[in-house]
Amino acid sequence: MMLPGPKSTDDQAIPIVIVGHVDHGKSTLIARLVHDAGGFTDGKVAELQAVSDRRGTDFEWSFLLDALQVERDQAITVDSTQVRFALQGRQYLIIDAPGHHEFIRNMLTGASQAVGAVLVVDATQGLAEQTKHHVMLLKFLGHKQIIVVINKMDLVGFDQAAFAALSVSVNNYCSTSGIAVAASVPVSARHGDGLFSQSDRLAWYVGPTVAESLAMFSISPAPVDRPVRFPVQDVYRHGDQRILVGRLDSGCMAIGDQVVLCPTGRTATITGFFDENGLSSRTDAKAGESVAIALDHELFVERGHVAASVAAPPSLATLLKARVVWLDAEPLKAGAEYILRVGTATHVVLVDSINRLFDFDHQVDQITDAVHQYAVAEISLRTRVPVPIDPADDGAVLSRAMLLSGHRVVGACLLQSGERRAVVSSNLTAVIQSVSRDERAARNGYRGAVIWFTGLSGAGKSTLAMALQRELFDRRVGVYVLDGDNVRHGLNHDLGFNEADRLENLRRVAEVARLFADAGLIVITAFIAPTVGIRTLAREIVGAEFHEVYVDADLATCEARDTKGLYAKARRGEIKDFTGISSVWEPPMASDLAVPTSHQSIADSLGLLVDYVERRVLGARKVYDFSHFDGIEETS
Ligand code: ADX
Repeated sequence: MMLPGPKSTDDQAIPIVIVGHVDHGKSTLIARLVHDAGGFTDGKVAELQAVSDRRGTDFEWSFLLDALQVERDQAITVDSTQVRFALQGRQYLIIDAPGHHEFIRNMLTGASQAVGAVLVVDATQGLAEQTKHHVMLLKFLGHKQIIVVINKMDLVGFDQAAFAALSVSVNNYCSTSGIAVAASVPVSARHGDGLFSQSDRLAWYVGPTVAESLAMFSISPAPVDRPVRFPVQDVYRHGDQRILVGRLDSGCMAIGDQVVLCPTGRTATITGFFDENGLSSRTDAKAGESVAIALDHELFVERGHVAASVAAPPSLATLLKARVVWLDAEPLKAGAEYILRVGTATHVVLVDSINRLFDFDHQVDQITDAVHQYAVAEISLRTRVPVPIDPADDGAVLSRAMLLSGHRVVGACLLQSGERRAVVSSNLTAVIQSVSRDERAARNGYRGAVIWFTGLSGAGKSTLAMALQRELFDRRVGVYVLDGDNVRHGLNHDLGFNEADRLENLRRVAEVARLFADAGLIVITAFIAPTVGIRTLAREIVGAEFHEVYVDADLATCEARDTKGLYAKARRGEIKDFTGISSVWEPPMASDLAVPTSHQSIADSLGLLVDYVERRVLGARKVYDFSHFDGIEETS
């Protein structure tokens, strides 16, 4: 079996982000560091020096970075500069981002999750507004420690008092923001003082050089001893088995371990690991590895679910409190809908409230009804389905989230807390029905059941459901049809056709069908129910009395019939997410009954259905003969 390999994010270089105002000398510092570490080819400096001389301009170290950038055949994203260099046997990846937007995006995408941060401050300027913002964002992103580089010391005559005054004020600002300053280093990046070796002009300074302070940063080891968090990227079938593909973000998994799937709460045991060649000889996996695991039985699981330690699962929340950095030019407003991405899951969320706005200068937090670009706020978000999260857990994958508008990232979130509202209240106690299923079955002569039709639009689900209902009713069976087009006008009028809405549509239908079956009815459902995952969920909700019927007509046939004209519209692009055309259709592999409708009359299809229901649903039904009642009435 071929499995598309999950993306690996392994990288040995130590990523360090460099922040500060654009004019405070970030590029010069980076270029000079790389140069002094031997990172540029011989003659590059001389070459650029000659160019500067010819043009009559001063040589700038940052030209080297530009040259480096061009040499890299534009492979690097234009919105950030990433420079790799080796220093004393360690690889560093310096991430410089010119603007706020790029900076935050880079920091949050995880690809360049910096382990350290260097803050550059111009000795002649002090803390700029933009620098304050960067400090706050570093804190927001979980940085606890930074190195402060006080640059352009040559412009203040390498004055010790000037350095002391400025470093005290920067330190104070950082510590009130909750970030410790590990070292404050005076440098002149342009002239190379303080970068690699102590400079005579800074003889009064006794602390580490920039190179020495960088050595303090190291990549923290993968969190192997934390609870298992395996956000599912994809699900494949392999015979009867389910193969889940993803990256193990924390903990260890081994064959025989039990995991709980969130948010469904189902447990399963890991039976093996797969790779692109099939079952692999691997017996375990640890945090940081991308793997494919097989589970011992079928259960409802799809992309976005999280396999987790049974002993320490994530919490499930429908009301989430989050800190957000707002990135979009269009302000965030209470009542607006966005898409929340946590781990591999996406959820439709509603902004329930904006609780407060954080202020950079540590003044009193403000109350507001809108969050503007680059502002930081605490907001409450509401979701329809429970979201697995690890709130307020620094570094945990389920504690970070993105807000999207369509495909655009508009906000970055740290999840602070979450609660599960209105779904299952701890104050609810199930009441036992005073009439049991068995009693109803004994009176009716059959047990309530759900005949779950699935098939493409136009396959004949509604037609056959109605015909079967008529047939059963005429045989005095209590029967009712739940039909897609009807239910979507009432109970599910708030749902559309994206993946999440279809899942919710059928979850509700399955719950309603279960209640009807509990009440003793034979329920026939006529919904597309397009995926294996959705149908498995329905089966889980309904339980033993679930019968899956595949109303089987291929796409070409359904499209040729096009009874509602919807396929034509979908082909013209007038309906989006149309099943079989622009939205997924997974035909059932193992239905309880398949009814081929392409080349068979309705009567023949109905014959198959009635036969199945007689044998498998009504079973050894006591056949009551009611004719004498009619007879009595007639004669009286
Ligand atoms: S399901 O996928 O969630 O099971 P459901 O059975 O409720 O779908 O609704 C399908 C019916 O909605 C179709 O028979 C068709 O009449 C209508 N419909 C409207 N838009 C779509 C769409 N994008 N995809 C499929 N059916 C659609």
